[in-house]
Amino acid sequence: MIEHEALVEAARQARENAHAPYSNFRVGAALRATSGRIFGGSNVENATYGLTVCAERVAIFKAMSEGERGFEAIAVVTDTDTLTPPCGACRQLIWEFCGDVPVILANLKGKTETLPMRELFPRPFDSRNL
Ligand code: THU
Repeated sequence: MIEHEALVEAARQARENAHAPYSNFRVGAALRATSGRIFGGSNVENATYGLTVCAERVAIFKAMSEGERGFEAIAVVTDTDTLTPPCGACRQLIWEFCGDVPVILANLKGKTETLPMRELFPRPFDSRNL
């Protein structure tokens, strides 16, 4: 799908800015808001390791802080043969801020797979549990 290709390309570009000197595992993400704007994010590591922020969360926080509410899809790009799904922390936030969106996983060789968030994050905790 052409819309998904544009999002994967934005994630690939965002990955160019990954700051991953400790893991050397460079990740790019891109999030499309219902406004049509696309927000890219890369992973940003630091010397504590533990304060690292994943590419997906960088993209979400960029969009939220720009006033976006409501999202249509997110793409994640790495240079691996096995596609990289979002980590558990990111799944929580993708679910809370984006809901049951398609998650497009892709690598630099053109391999892609699209999964709905409800499959990646079954039986979630969210505001309905409060
Ligand atoms: N990472 C992401 O940015 N997103 C993912 O989906 C998986 C992991 C980052 C965190 C860290 O900088 C590096 O990849 C290795 O875990």
